[in-house]
Amino acid sequence: MSAVRVGGTEPGGEPAPIVALQRALAGEFERDPRGPRAAAILGAYARQHVDWRGFAHFAPGCYTRNLVARTEHYELLVLCWQPGVESPIHDHAGQHCWMAVLEGRIEEVHYAWPEPDARGAMRARGSRVFEAGQVAYIDDGIALHLVRPADGRLGVSLHLYARPIERCLAYDAATGAVLPRQLTYHSA
Ligand SMILES: [Fe+2]
Repeated sequence: MSAVRVGGTEPGGEPAPIVALQRALAGEFERDPRGPRAAAILGAYARQHVDWRGFAHFAPGCYTRNLVARTEHYELLVLCWQPGVESPIHDHAGQHCWMAVLEGRIEEVHYAWPEPDARGAMRARGSRVFEAGQVAYIDDGIALHLVRPADGRLGVSLHLYARPIERCLAYDAATGAVLPRQLTYHSA
């Protein structure tokens, strides 16, 4: 584990781990926008480093989206989850999405896309809990999902979107109604 340093350099002149992560991701997406090594890069960072803590800001009763880096190719965010909160069921606007768990355990619940004109409760298609250091991946070809901390405890996760996502579609769990959603940052 390295000391918490944000955006600077380590004492030896090496870039801070989260800066090295951004460089690795930039190189990865320049080589291939599908990011074949993105999960491995993200997981290696999540298992070894803690300087993401400089981007972790919690707010009562909700989850926060804290921007680490954004380029034309990708967007990197630290999400902080209070116990008991959850994301809406949502899509990913045609983009690739990876999530590495940084602290706690994070549950992902998959949902099928609703049939056109269907109304009624959304049906979960399965769920999985990810441990610290594990990486989840989703895109619109796989499913819709919601994300929440497990065990009634807080959680922190590192989210990578390629390309960046400004708007997505959220779905009302009880009715399946579509709710267009503009994505914002709690800190940047
Ligand atoms: Fe998501």
